[in-house]
Amino acid sequence: MPPSETVQPTEIVMARVLVLHGPNLNLLGVREPAIYGRTTLPEIDDALVALATELGAHVECRQSNHEGVLLDWIHEARGVFDGIVINPGALTHTSLALADAIAGVAIPTVEVHLSNVHAREPIRRRSYVGAKCVGSVSGFGATSYTLGLRALLDYLTRAPSPTGST
Ligand code: DQA
Repeated sequence: MPPSETVQPTEIVMARVLVLHGPNLNLLGVREPAIYGRTTLPEIDDALVALATELGAHVECRQSNHEGVLLDWIHEARGVFDGIVINPGALTHTSLALADAIAGVAIPTVEVHLSNVHAREPIRRRSYVGAKCVGSVSGFGATSYTLGLRALLDYLTRAPSPTGST
């Protein structure tokens, strides 16, 4: 076969996903378990790492109680991560800055919530962050995160990657 017709092996590059947990999510397991369940944050992160491995992706999980830290991590994700899964906690309902950051970096982002925010107090039905995300998963407890990761990876297979890795 002439060189021009040589079939090149397809380069398989892992999608890189940043998982961000916002305020108070470090307390999962002890925090209002009737609403948020008994699964701890390390258990959620372990499940995400296991799922990412199974699906041929890479995840990095971080938690902060500080809005500015979350903003910095979103900004720094440009060119490094292909997608973001975020549970912004209460900042979901208040932070125009987080929404602007997600829109600003233009990295496909999925919003997740353990509780069904639409079935709770009216203030929790408004999500500034969700308006800038490709989609949201809410109400499935810790499973919301793995559903969110699956949805994001599926989305990334269809959308051009900002880092060119997928
Ligand atoms: C939450 C819902 C928010 O309204 C709340 O402030 C949280 C957790 C959830 O995962 O259900 O901190 O994001």
